Amino acid sequence: MIDEENNIVTEQDKPKAEDTYTETQAETLTEEQIIEGQKRRIRSFVRRTGRLTAGQQLGYDRQWDKLGFSLDDGELDLPKAFGRDAYTVLEIGFGMGQSLIEMAKAAPEKNFIGIEVHTPGVGSALRMADEEGVTNIRISEDDAIEVLKQQIADESFDCLQLFFPDPWHKKRHNKRRIVNEEFVQMIRAKLKPGGIIHMATDWQPYAEHMMEVLSAAEGFTNQAGEGQYTPRPDHRPLTKFEKRGEKLGHGVWDLFFEKIS
Ligand SMILES: C[S@@+](CC[C@H](N)C(=O)[O-])C[C@H]1O[C@@H](n2cnc3c(N)ncnc32)[C@H](O)[C@@H]1O
Repeated sequence: MIDEENNIVTEQDKPKAEDTYTETQAETLTEEQIIEGQKRRIRSFVRRTGRLTAGQQLGYDRQWDKLGFSLDDGELDLPKAFGRDAYTVLEIGFGMGQSLIEMAKAAPEKNFIGIEVHTPGVGSALRMADEEGVTNIRISEDDAIEVLKQQIADESFDCLQLFFPDPWHKKRHNKRRIVNEEFVQMIRAKLKPGGIIHMATDWQPYAEHMMEVLSAAEGFTNQAGEGQYTPRPDHRPLTKFEKRGEKLGHGVWDLFFEKIS
């Protein structure tokens, strides 16, 4: 099937139940409420069901009680959650957790908060933390937008990492991209003064979109100079997605923006 923008629509692309209102709900809502509700329900991910491997399950069993937190826990007291007040990095969408665990291991003096909705990825990160003896991380498996809104206090962390977020290539899916003006302003509120946003992507149109949104955002300055990308920093480990991108001949773009007001 071809849609109005000439995109080929497959079964997989069709809206899932979670993306739409049921008829009964829609019938009882005003048009404004429906539009507002639809806005609210556009998410940057589609939950995939995936079985946990034995290792991922073991990660959960051994580490979730120590390292995991959920929306039910309410607003986080970060010094209490980590048992110390330290430079804190928050990573959204850590995938299988390689970069999160590697970075946390390499910087034991820092706190790391990782948020990922893909359950096998969370299990994998917990497993790696268990194997590597990494304790300076706390992990959530909820939607990062809700975690930030409900659990992270204003001016409470130092660096936001967003590595290879889903690019939502198709034009009609672009609205699902996590990076937009509203997202950046929410991060601005949550970052400490002088805090950093570090994004990386291997999809050039998304890199350009990130650059456009961040450059126009009030309260930030590009550390590399206007319109400039930053060479890949040594402290960002290579992830599965980046390796795959390299094989496909993609470039990689890193952006560093500092909160100045
Ligand atoms: C393309 S993958 C990249 C994973 C990893 N950063 C890497 O470089 O290998 C993007 C990840 O972001 C996660 N994600 C997307 N939106 C999210 C959200 N709102 N909250 C938490 N995780 C999210 C997805 O589940 C997916 O695992």
